[in-house]
Amino acid sequence: MKPAIDQLTAQFAADVRADLSSTPKQLQSKYLYDALGSSLFDAICRLPWYRITRAESALLARHADAIVTSIGKANGTIVELGCGSGEKLVLLAEALQARGASAHVHLIDISPQAIEHTEQRLTRLHLSVVGHQSTYEEGLRQAAAARRGDGRMLVLLLGSNIGNFDTPAAHAFLRRIRAAVSPGDFLLLGADLAKPELDLIDAYDDPLGVTAAFNKNLLVRINNELGGDFDLAAFDHVAVWNAADQRIEMHLVSRVAQRVRIPAAEMTVSFEAGERIWTESSYKYEPEQIVAMGASAGLASRNQWVDTDVGFALTLFAAV
Ligand code: TRP
Repeated sequence: MKPAIDQLTAQFAADVRADLSSTPKQLQSKYLYDALGSSLFDAICRLPWYRITRAESALLARHADAIVTSIGKANGTIVELGCGSGEKLVLLAEALQARGASAHVHLIDISPQAIEHTEQRLTRLHLSVVGHQSTYEEGLRQAAAARRGDGRMLVLLLGSNIGNFDTPAAHAFLRRIRAAVSPGDFLLLGADLAKPELDLIDAYDDPLGVTAAFNKNLLVRINNELGGDFDLAAFDHVAVWNAADQRIEMHLVSRVAQRVRIPAAEMTVSFEAGERIWTESSYKYEPEQIVAMGASAGLASRNQWVDTDVGFALTLFAAV
């Protein structure tokens, strides 16, 4: 008898099987964030070459009052899509408390470690916190359904996570956020801006190799959880700027022609030398493109704060 594998592993196996059978080959970026991957991503956020996190936190710290004023005095709801380690939410929660206001907080993340870290950071602030280990769509649905009282809702989509959707999907996702909230509710969107190619390559293929490790951890997961026999030394991490599509692409490139067995996905995958597995894209925007994208989804820009040195924008939208 085959040992029973749990449902999440079965889903991982089914996704790996479909995505490594497609042309070009790909792997879904949500699988980057297991315990090791989440720790590696936290390390990326501290790298001198990856400036998104620090730029965003500085903008949040500086404008937290203006942002939380939007929620008003009543008991509001804050929903963070992709909470990471929760440092940014703490900045907003402190500003909220300084105004004598409070909020129900919903944390939505694919990584249980991310939710746990954020919950730990928030407990000392005496907020009611509910974690949802789920995709953004599912978590947003649950948070909207759990909504109580007549306070405002503030949805946070930070860390340039919007950039990981392709353009039609980003539009569709903003429309879905708009559909989940009511007129007068808010979205705070943090998005990385287009910048010189060399800066982007340093940010997504850092000289310390942390981003390479983060990306290759997908292969480690396949080996550990699905019994795969990927040789990590036979793949390279590459980051490529695609100017036409305004995005940086992350790939794992097979150095040689090779075959890899993945028993739990019931497959053997063949690679040609130089063949790529696409793992993630990170789209970069102009400030006015962000405003226009919101507008077309029924979200009116109320304020936009830009770090022109790093090239990062925080935009506060109101649902209309
Ligand atoms: N949201 C992050 C970004 O686009 C995710 C990220 C950073 C990432 N570095 C990465 C994803 C490297 C894959 C590989 O900036």
